[in-house]
Amino acid sequence: MALHLIIGGAGFIGSHLADALIARGDRVRVLDDLSTGKRGNLPRGAEFIEGDVVNVCTGRAASLLELLVALERVCGRTADRRFGPERPGDFRLSLGAPSKATALLGLKATRRLDQGLAATLGLDEVARAA
Ligand SMILES: NC(=O)c1ccc[n+]([C@@H]2O[C@H](COP(=O)([O-])OP(=O)(O)OC[C@H]3O[C@@H](n4cnc5c(N)ncnc54)[C@H](O)[C@@H]3O)[C@@H](O)[C@H]2O)c1
Repeated sequence: MALHLIIGGAGFIGSHLADALIARGDRVRVLDDLSTGKRGNLPRGAEFIEGDVVNVCTGRAASLLELLVALERVCGRTADRRFGPERPGDFRLSLGAPSKATALLGLKATRRLDQGLAATLGLDEVARAA
């Protein structure tokens, strides 16, 4: 039986997702800080953990192309790039807000995107050289 973790599962979308997964026989664990969600939204059978999720990020915006270039640098190879017309719903920039991580945990970004990617991929020697 599959076990799913739904962050924000006491909210509108997450609780409907939890309903659907439980209805098909899967296990669901919900992590939610109840900032806008409610315990009453949780489907019967869902495990609940009250807690916060924080963004560990720099707070600087990155385009998909910048992410690709950083990944190429970290992996030491170039990707086969194809550029097409913009589609509805395309993301221009990815941007996280680090304020909660800083307030709750005192975390501040000290690594650039490529250094963080290298560390995440376990390529720490690349991160140190970058
Ligand atoms: N409802 C829509 O029609 C719709 C459409 C497009 C996009 N969205 C986006 O999808 C996301 C979910 O929408 P929703 O309508 O379910 O919102 P919601 O407020 O009902 O649910 C969000 C849930 O996340 C929880 N939460 C928020 N911050 C948290 C944190 N740091 N740690 C743990 N739990 C946290 C809240 O308590 C809440 O239960 C939102 O980002 C919303 O902008 C919603």
